[in-house]
Amino acid sequence: MTEASQRRTMTAPMVMARKGGRKLRMITAYDAPTARISDRAGADIILVGDSVANVVLGHDDTLAVTVDVMVHHTAAVTRTKPMALVVGDMPWLSYHTSITDTVENAGRFIREGGASAVKLEGGRKRIPMIRAVLDAEIPVMGHIGLTPQSVHSMGGYKVQGKQAHAAYEMISDAHALADAGVFAIVLEGVPDVVAEIVTREIHVPTIGIGAGVNCDGQVLVFHDVTGLGAGEYLPKFVRQYADLADDAVMAIEAFFEDVESGAFPSEDETYHMPAESEEILRNLSHASDDLMADDAMEN
Ligand code: KIV
Repeated sequence: MTEASQRRTMTAPMVMARKGGRKLRMITAYDAPTARISDRAGADIILVGDSVANVVLGHDDTLAVTVDVMVHHTAAVTRTKPMALVVGDMPWLSYHTSITDTVENAGRFIREGGASAVKLEGGRKRIPMIRAVLDAEIPVMGHIGLTPQSVHSMGGYKVQGKQAHAAYEMISDAHALADAGVFAIVLEGVPDVVAEIVTREIHVPTIGIGAGVNCDGQVLVFHDVTGLGAGEYLPKFVRQYADLADDAVMAIEAFFEDVESGAFPSEDETYHMPAESEEILRNLSHASDDLMADDAMEN
């Protein structure tokens, strides 16, 4: 665990300065408890990912979430005042329709959500939107490769850039995003050699997820790393480090057993009245029992 006292609150320029240096540690979080845990573990970046749609809200894909939902979760994370940089994930259709809408939506993540940066998916075609958000002084993280918001146009969740031409296009996208001024780029679901070339060629950090070991950092989903996903499908690139869902089931089963046996709550877990108040109450209660018995007899 990293001591909070040795850490400084992360900023987008501090993330950029880590290019080629100590690997960046990024994790998703969606609420106050997952943010606190991630920050205690020493996250450099907390991404309030639109994966909240699948992981927390039970949707089949990320397309279901809106700016309102994302800002709501982002605010829950930032209320914990983490040392990590909090990046809000712009949902599908929040940066596709117009530059004005894009900047207003990005601004909501900062003003209402308390985030310090936003992330959006896509390559060269997003450059006008990215430039406009940067002009509004909001740091932007890029995201290319397997971009889940493109699930329908990709024809499913498929590794991207497996053919040389597609990989070359992706590398050009990475250059364009870096030149436009993003402070980091997530590379998702791409062959390791593509991530290696991008990481070598661009001047901003790459953060991989299913992109091999040669990126400047790695990101995974909180519930996948901790096993809180309760049996959800895990992609090949995930490493699960704990089984919190199983631990939680065991804890709740033990609670239910204690409820049935009467072992819960114990004396220590129970509130008591002062003795004299209890005596008055019991006498009052007996008196009212007697009155009710008299009534019953008369009727
Ligand atoms: O929404 C998300 O969780 C993401 C990461 C997996 C990069 O975009």
